[in-house]
Amino acid sequence: MCGIVAYTGKKREIVPTLLDALVRLEYRGYDSAGIAVSCPDGIEILKTSGKVKALQEKVSSDWKEKVKDAVAGIAHTRWATHGPPTEINAHPHTDEKKNFALVHNGIIDNYSAIKERLQAKGVKFSSETDTEALAHLIAECYMGDLCNAVAAALKQVTGTFGIAVISRDSPGVIVAARKGSPIVIGVGEDEAFVASDVSPLLPYTKRVIYLNDNDIAVVRPDRIDIRNMDNIPVSREVAHIGWDIKAAEKGGHEHFMIKEIFEQPEAIANALRGRMDTELGTSKLDGLNFSETDVAGISRIIIAACGTSLHAGMLGEYFFEDLANIPVEVDQAAEFRYRNPIIQKGTLALAISQSGETADTLAAVREAKLKGAIVASICNVVGSTIARETGRGVYLHAGPEIGVASTKAFTCEVAILLLMALKFGRAARLSRQSGFALISEIEKASGLVKNVIDGAQKIEKIARKYARARDFFFIGRGYLYPVALEGALKLKEISYIHAEGYHAAELKHGPIALLDENVPVVVMANDLPGKDKIIGNLQECRARKAPVIAIVTEGDKDAKKYSDDFIEIPRASDFVTPLPTVVALQLFAYYTARERGCSIDQPRNLAKSVTVE
Ligand code: F6R
Repeated sequence: MCGIVAYTGKKREIVPTLLDALVRLEYRGYDSAGIAVSCPDGIEILKTSGKVKALQEKVSSDWKEKVKDAVAGIAHTRWATHGPPTEINAHPHTDEKKNFALVHNGIIDNYSAIKERLQAKGVKFSSETDTEALAHLIAECYMGDLCNAVAAALKQVTGTFGIAVISRDSPGVIVAARKGSPIVIGVGEDEAFVASDVSPLLPYTKRVIYLNDNDIAVVRPDRIDIRNMDNIPVSREVAHIGWDIKAAEKGGHEHFMIKEIFEQPEAIANALRGRMDTELGTSKLDGLNFSETDVAGISRIIIAACGTSLHAGMLGEYFFEDLANIPVEVDQAAEFRYRNPIIQKGTLALAISQSGETADTLAAVREAKLKGAIVASICNVVGSTIARETGRGVYLHAGPEIGVASTKAFTCEVAILLLMALKFGRAARLSRQSGFALISEIEKASGLVKNVIDGAQKIEKIARKYARARDFFFIGRGYLYPVALEGALKLKEISYIHAEGYHAAELKHGPIALLDENVPVVVMANDLPGKDKIIGNLQECRARKAPVIAIVTEGDKDAKKYSDDFIEIPRASDFVTPLPTVVALQLFAYYTARERGCSIDQPRNLAKSVTVE
């Protein structure tokens, strides 16, 4: 959840390089930030509460002069877990003598016990963080070799970590390690980087090494040695990052979120490219590595995911059941992990995750594997932990998603689920003709989404009208039920308006009590099966004086006339309609938040990639 970046080398000025990289990482956490550099006379540290901008402003010319001979540095942007986001709690943390400085993502579960033991020995702690305990522990374990000290300290901790450490005695050396929280090493010419994800590395190198859990790396400008915690060398291959730097920049847009919403026609096209088999009326998803016989052997699917990816998974349930006749369960990943699920022969556990690092989804994958399920994933981030641990799956190819509110990942996840269901369907009861028909529908998805984006101004106008509401409901049925949930999630997370997504039929089982003239209801009233029923639900809302914003199909004649405002979506098949519809809701949430002056790319209390439970 927090962001780590570190640099060793003499090719660049360390402080501006690390600060620039921190800005690119800020989407992962943004409540406090800090930097530590390794200079000939020792370690210098600067920290602040607030965003990276505050840290940039704190770097005085005197401080820059003081650290001009630095040979390595570590930096961090935090999303607070232990202790509030104050300057003292910001990373890097050090031991008492400032011989070691450490940045850390994850949670040290047994930090209280370590802290108590060290305090009893007289060690003074200055922060409320779990991380500081690790810094003191490294100092206690140090016998002249930084890597050995870090390994010895890590052996005493339980929990999760991705860390980068520098020391006074070894200027130019960074020791990095991971367990449950990603660490990637950027390989350059006479320089090297360490980061928690590839986004800060894009301007500098495309060659990276992903550490595995329990790897520990000694990173020097010209040499990277990786071993396991028992000091046995391990070899990890150098991978190439396919993302372009431009993909991780705003490119003239006011926010990443709107850039990413607008990118969806292209992102969906990229997700689908080369994956539809127009001869056999099926899809080609090589990364799944399933033969037709393997597919035929899958008798049940459990989808595990969180947040927006969970909503995509709920659509997957409809797709697999309708197209492939396979029973599906969709689980909030944490629930899957803790409720002792039943896995039978032929159960496929499918994890869906944009980041590929979400802690609960990863834990669900591990639990499913342990219980003998076939595991697969749909991820966006190439080389992410979930993608690697499942070993088979499909990448979204959506490009980096930087805005904290997930948008293009959702539509691409849905597109991939549709392709998977097509493949599974063709191996079961779906005819070749039906396969062709579905492919020609799927091919329209990108254009349908573009059509909605072209009408963004009208959505903006409606969003402005309702931007001061304090509560919202989103209701839908069938394929548009998960879309209603996603619309409510988008609105609440970036505009801070209380918004609830409900199945339209569920409204009258309680929530309808909350409706009055101040509570707008967004009704998914597209021309899909069940429309007559949703119009009934819409009328129920109106009867309670709730303003109604109807999402309707172009050419609609009935839902419109009962609504205060409406947004038109182009006509499409049941399977594809969720895509243009959700894009309208993303735009609605975006313009509402903008009207309210919210911090759209970095909403309060949130962070991209939830790597803690
Ligand atoms: C909402 C959002 C989150 C994520 C969730 C799962 O806009 O971004 O709800 O969808 O944290 O993240 P991934 O897909 O990375 O596993």
